[in-house]
Amino acid sequence: MKIKSQYTCQSCGFNAAKWMGKCPECGAWNSLVEEKITQSKDSSISAVRESFQAKGAGTSNLVLLGEMSEEQKAGAKHRNSTGSPELDRVLGGGLVRDGFVLIGGDPGIGKSTLLLQVAQGLTENAGVKKVLYVSGEESIEQIQSRAKRLRIKNQSSIYLAAETQLEKVLTIVKDLKPELLIMDSLQTFSTGFIESAPGTVSQVREVTSRLMNLAKSAGIAVWLVGHVTKDGSIAGPKIVEHLVDTVLYFEGDSGQTMRLLRTVKNRFGNTNELGVFEMTADGLIDVANPSALFLSERTEQAMGTAIVATLEGSRPLLVELQALCVPSPYGTPRRTSVGMDSQKVAILTAVLEKHVGASLQNQDLFFNVAGGLRLSEPACDLASVAAIYSAIREVPIDSSTMFLGEVGLTGEIRKVTQIELRVDEAKKLGFKEAIVPHSQLERAKKTSGIKITPIAHVNELKNMLRS
Ligand code: TYD
Ligand code: MG
Repeated sequence: MKIKSQYTCQSCGFNAAKWMGKCPECGAWNSLVEEKITQSKDSSISAVRESFQAKGAGTSNLVLLGEMSEEQKAGAKHRNSTGSPELDRVLGGGLVRDGFVLIGGDPGIGKSTLLLQVAQGLTENAGVKKVLYVSGEESIEQIQSRAKRLRIKNQSSIYLAAETQLEKVLTIVKDLKPELLIMDSLQTFSTGFIESAPGTVSQVREVTSRLMNLAKSAGIAVWLVGHVTKDGSIAGPKIVEHLVDTVLYFEGDSGQTMRLLRTVKNRFGNTNELGVFEMTADGLIDVANPSALFLSERTEQAMGTAIVATLEGSRPLLVELQALCVPSPYGTPRRTSVGMDSQKVAILTAVLEKHVGASLQNQDLFFNVAGGLRLSEPACDLASVAAIYSAIREVPIDSSTMFLGEVGLTGEIRKVTQIELRVDEAKKLGFKEAIVPHSQLERAKKTSGIKITPIAHVNELKNMLRS
């Protein structure tokens, strides 16, 4: 057995043979910490693997590209539905049998709640017989009381363990042979092969790569929770994203009930998918029609607001953009933007001043994306310009009109992607008119029952919004 010493930067994960005051990779000061790694052959995972192979699961290492396993031939592999359509979509159509999913998010956002519900969903809908939920941060009683609050059924299929030592977890897995292993959370587990404390870069990496090895060799699904931390003292999920199959981030304002689950990486499906949930007293519930939720608090005929159909992955979402102008008490007027890049808002404001002739001089501008969403799509440009114009000129925009289009620096309106999908969504929610790029008039007209108005230049907004 050999003990190797290395120095790892706790903010970026850079490795060095000797200590340095400043990390050459990320420039952080005093971030290199000595970590001792015991190099010896680890047999715990191969033992698990053998036990699974004895059971008939597990996979051999060398196969031809065209060769299919017995299970694939039988069509049994592929996806298990979690019972939540929102979650299934984010995963790319359900849970893969040996998939390794990392779910990141701020503490308190609802990760543990979601995972208990996943455990219940899989046992209920996909016929999963055994789920092992390992918690390194809560006691068994705490998990049980949460489960009671969530009214989790199938209590005889879900096993709980309070454990922080990875090797002990592997022993439990070897005996229990669960089909799904939930590890909550990454930063609390440690392996005996590394001497540093739980939550350090090398522990976090080592624990994750061992769990990945376990998922693939024993053929079980593993879900790993990772807290996103603001200070660099604990390594976050970013550091291990490259090791796993699927990376999901759970977001939301802890003061609000809406939660968004985003796919950041997925070896089994699309990235940029979005699942929308609502946190209630009974846990997380799917929001099947988020557009309706985003628009629910909109006021009719308000000044300074415009609706756009943005795309999150393959999913259209109708969102309200808001602008507010007030006389500025300072020499340099303020430009504040929430939910959209402020540079973008500055560019659109400049285009509006130059090509439509609406002046924002001596005016503070506040820009907001309602509902807490962040938008970066060029397709939102026209709606943003319309909202700002409506705020400056104090002309109301009809609340049943939707805007689509990218705005160029010369004021021209450019194409957006997947226009049919967006117009369809607006039609479904009862919108009466869609203002679309001139060049996409024909494609947009494929949706019937909604008036389609083409626009070629931002200048035309003046006439459109006057009437
Ligand atoms: P939790 O799943 O513990 O968050 P995480 O694992 O991401 O740290 O959930 C935390 C919050 O969710 C907690 O403040 C209480 C709230 N909550 C509800 O509103 N309803 C519920 O049914 C449950 C279980 C939790
Ligand atoms: Mg938790």
